[in-house]
Amino acid sequence: MTDTAELKLDNGETYELPVITGSAGEKAVDVTSLRGSSKYITLDPGYGNTGSCLSAITFIDGEKGVLRYRGIPIETLAEKASFLETSYLLINGRLPNKTELENFQSEITIHTMLYEDVKSFYDGFPRDAHPMAILASVVCSLSAFYQDEEGSPEEVSYLNSIRLMAKLPTIAAWAYKKSVGHPFVYPNNSLSYCENFLYMMFGLPVEEYEIDPLLVEVLDTLLILHADHEQNCSTSTVRIVRSSMANMFACIASGICALWGSRHGGANQRVIEMLQRIREDGGGTKKFIEMAKDRESGFRLMGFGHRVYKNFDPRALIIKDKCAELLNKLKVSDPLLDIARELQEAALADDYFAERKLYPNVDFYSGIIYRAMGIPVNAFTVMFALGRLPGWIAHAKEYTEDPKNRIGRPRQIYTGPEQAEYVPIEDRG
Ligand code: CMC
Repeated sequence: MTDTAELKLDNGETYELPVITGSAGEKAVDVTSLRGSSKYITLDPGYGNTGSCLSAITFIDGEKGVLRYRGIPIETLAEKASFLETSYLLINGRLPNKTELENFQSEITIHTMLYEDVKSFYDGFPRDAHPMAILASVVCSLSAFYQDEEGSPEEVSYLNSIRLMAKLPTIAAWAYKKSVGHPFVYPNNSLSYCENFLYMMFGLPVEEYEIDPLLVEVLDTLLILHADHEQNCSTSTVRIVRSSMANMFACIASGICALWGSRHGGANQRVIEMLQRIREDGGGTKKFIEMAKDRESGFRLMGFGHRVYKNFDPRALIIKDKCAELLNKLKVSDPLLDIARELQEAALADDYFAERKLYPNVDFYSGIIYRAMGIPVNAFTVMFALGRLPGWIAHAKEYTEDPKNRIGRPRQIYTGPEQAEYVPIEDRG
């Protein structure tokens, strides 16, 4: 079998291009040399057919609903591993042994505090600031605090990655405290990663906060499910920002900004808002299904569809069960959950959604869980960011370690006027 592809262009020339095969058999036509030899570029708005890199971190088979981190199925990790163990796996490429995991955990634990000067930044934000705005700004501002580190660039990046893993929960919890006008709770380093986050979120100086082990367990699973998803919008953003050699804080802040949008991480907030809207409208789902099918309406069923998964989202299956378990144990009866169930059934039975292979994605359920945990709706995307952080770090690291890396710089096809005249302002109509 040939490992090249032939491309015949309208200039009559034929170009031979290498075909690259991934470890799971997926194929790519390598067009790296195309422009140099032919002056043609490839055009792929939305990058649905474009591989931007070779990566050994995460494998997805969207048709079969497969997701693996470093070869390990997401179902196994969700059942057996912790979030920090999964983070180590993503960042370092293999599972840690006991000592390595302990060292990783304690390295992260000792960096959980923020400079007091950082704390004062929060005073400048309005009470109703979106927590993603705070998260991105504070993460980026950490660059100002860690400027002249000793060591090789790899060592500095690693230390800053540890700092990010350690401090993001503190930054996130304080954004919440700011929004409710409560005093900030400092991290307690005798607690685990997820315990500490819940403690900083919901603890108060006036009373003991009892950490529910079930919440810790569910949160840990949710973070694992979100930990990486190969070249999605935010991860590609992190990689491209890293390609300019920006520092780790700037790279991760850019990932947070990209995640914020409603077609990406912001969808979990939009799911709850949509369910609330349906409830306020009387609870009937039919009207909303019809609206989602009508392109002119501009309305989409939030939490449905995925660029890659055209069968089911394996994360959604895992989380769906966890969601039911949590609501049962917490004895939460949430009317939005009933609407969500009805909406899901109606959409799955509808040809429009079947033909377009639109299934519930992870965000359809994560919002319901966060709601049950007491996390405010506008902080849902922050929770996604906490989970996605090790994936972003792993991709920034992989990019940096690639000896062939180049700055990310896509091309375009220009469609504006070829030449235009400058008309003096007084002569313009
Ligand atoms: N509701 C109604 N119609 C939809 C939806 C939806 N949620 N998603 C896609 N479609 C339709 C779309 O209108 C198009 O129809 P047509 O063929 O008639 O033009 C067709 O399905 C294909 O849609 P697309 O926009 O080309 O698909 P995409 O791969 O570019 O978009 C998506 C993927 C996730 C942005 C999109 O499905 C969507 O907007 N979903 C709602 C937002 C959401 O839940 N996002 C979270 C994704 S999971 C978390 C993450 O990884 O970030």
